[in-house]
Amino acid sequence: MIWEEVLAKFKELFGDEGEIGVYFAPGRVNMIGEHTDYNGGHVFPCALTIGTYGVARKREDKKLRFYSMNFEELGVLESSVEGLKPEKEADWTNYPKGVMWAFGEKGMKVELGMDLVLFGNIPNGSGLSSSASVEVLTGFILRDMFGFDVTNQDLALIGQYSENKFNGVNCGIMDQFAIAMGKAGHAIFLDTATLKYEYAPIKLENAKIVISCSNKKRGLGDSKYNERRSECETALAEIKEVIDIQTLGDLTEEQFEQHKDAIKSDICRKRAKHAVYENQRTIKAVAALQNNDVKLFGELMNASHVSLRDDYEVTGVELDTLVEEAWKIDGVIGSRMTGAGFGGCTVSIVKDEAVDTFIEKVGSAYKDKIGYAADFYVVEIGDGPVKLA
Ligand code: GLA
Repeated sequence: MIWEEVLAKFKELFGDEGEIGVYFAPGRVNMIGEHTDYNGGHVFPCALTIGTYGVARKREDKKLRFYSMNFEELGVLESSVEGLKPEKEADWTNYPKGVMWAFGEKGMKVELGMDLVLFGNIPNGSGLSSSASVEVLTGFILRDMFGFDVTNQDLALIGQYSENKFNGVNCGIMDQFAIAMGKAGHAIFLDTATLKYEYAPIKLENAKIVISCSNKKRGLGDSKYNERRSECETALAEIKEVIDIQTLGDLTEEQFEQHKDAIKSDICRKRAKHAVYENQRTIKAVAALQNNDVKLFGELMNASHVSLRDDYEVTGVELDTLVEEAWKIDGVIGSRMTGAGFGGCTVSIVKDEAVDTFIEKVGSAYKDKIGYAADFYVVEIGDGPVKLA
């Protein structure tokens, strides 16, 4: 059991007295609907059975003592619940600290400190939302420890708020929502404009979800994520001059084609095209799944990748190689990059009998072309956060 090792580490570092809680929050993979969540569109992510384990104990003073088994070289990082602000030296602890700060901003001040040990089995910086997993986990622990009256959906919104305002990444709601609201065996069809959602069973008869990790590291803060977001905002402002809409997600493909010339720059027009078409693709993909048409779902995943590559320009040679090699293999139903892009992972639906060939062929072609190895994970769809002990 992984969590027992995390608990043992906690006791070694911080002793075994008092009330110690053991918690888990998942990572997520998005099946389709990429870069639509800050454009008022739909997304279709699911929580995974891999994620972040946390062992925590409330303190009597205001001290914070944080330790991550993924960054052991950093040792125990100490700070305080007073005067929370982002600091470079605080490294990964800026995520849990950001959530504590965000609770305070929402009128739920954290008055006492805690000792916390984390261990994540999500590859770091892979685009499977290790940071959102830590954020939701922290919120879940704070609720349990201090009795704050918040729903899991609130935990998602607080996590996003902390990421936006404390950690400086203008991310949408998808990751934190997928993690806080996850349900085993289901993906979440979420309308990011209204936060209305529906659970859709993922029944892939005789097929698996395979994640291919490019091992090209990516930090959202230093990527072009915020730049894409502002390009979409420019496009929206210009198109609003000619049609009455709130978000790019309000447009059908036909309406976009009719009004797209209102967007002045070619770049912003391409970005908006992706946002509009990707949203419509997501709606079609969920309908296809409801009709048990996994083949069409896969084709829409492939089209999503092409659009992210050519119009949104967030893929890069690593992700393109993984996807283009996957497309060559019999038994691959669909394959695309997932998450923010610029590195990170791809998601593929692969027939059971083709999984081994997939890993072998895509793996060796990737190594030949890129020069280092990719990693492959056959994943399961899991539940949202839980208290394990
Ligand atoms: C990151 C962000 C999400 C979303 C995706 C792209 O994962 O955190 O909000 O924008 O990129 O779909």
